[in-house]
Amino acid sequence: MKGVLLAGGTGSRLYPLTRITNKHLLPIFDRPMISYGIEALVKAGIGEIMVVTGGTHAGEFLRLLSNGDDHGVDRLCYAYQDRPGGIAEALGLTERFVGDDRVLVMLADNIFGQTLRPTVDAFLAQDGGARIVLSHREEPAHLRHLGVPEIRDGRVVGIIEKPDNPPSSYCVTGVYCYDPSVFSVISTLVPSGRGELEITDVNNHYVNQDLMEYDIFEGFWGDAGESIDAYYGVNDFVRRNGANLG
Ligand code: DAU
Repeated sequence: MKGVLLAGGTGSRLYPLTRITNKHLLPIFDRPMISYGIEALVKAGIGEIMVVTGGTHAGEFLRLLSNGDDHGVDRLCYAYQDRPGGIAEALGLTERFVGDDRVLVMLADNIFGQTLRPTVDAFLAQDGGARIVLSHREEPAHLRHLGVPEIRDGRVVGIIEKPDNPPSSYCVTGVYCYDPSVFSVISTLVPSGRGELEITDVNNHYVNQDLMEYDIFEGFWGDAGESIDAYYGVNDFVRRNGANLG
């Protein structure tokens, strides 16, 4: 199983901090944000990782991560996204790296309190298809900024991106597992209203084929790129409790 860590985009919700660097190089407690994602993948048992980045600070990722030796990565590769065309577009750049393997994709602004190993194990036990990780969220105001699943009889029957009326009190976190068919799904996507290839459209493809499974993540999950408040909330949590434990 390969790992893909997405670290492109504009980070506009953290302006002006992200006018002078890439969001994923900002600190979370004592380390640049991207290193938590690398650690999450390595601790989940994934040794081959591709980092996708873009914009003006791509070189800093090489300086920070080098060949991945210091982070326990067996093989670290890089891809460059020319413009922020969406999460699914960024994933599309990794097709040759992933090859015939399965892939766990992680958004590099997502921080998890505990290990993702159970999700990897469960996905490897699946016949194929896809698997997402959900997190419980009470506040509808928060859910309106995220992807939200509709769940019926224990199955995800649809995912709505940034819904006005959230259909459940769960959000889709930025961890997605796919079999190699994901690249043919991406090739059928059309840009959304915001001009991006949406990962939610990819996920809904698997939902519609009844090939989507999910885990509910019981520990801490935070999207440090959601807002300045969320960024500092994640920092405070990690400083007190650590991340990727177990
Ligand atoms: O964090 C979880 C949420 O992430 C999910 O609930 C949503 O369903 C999902 O669409 C995503 O929403 P965001 O609005 O947070 O996505 P954002 O545009 O902030 O991008 C998240 C990460 O993906 C970001 O850290 C960098 C990477 N990215 C994004 C874009 C648009 C890229 O690498 N390239 C891109 O073109």
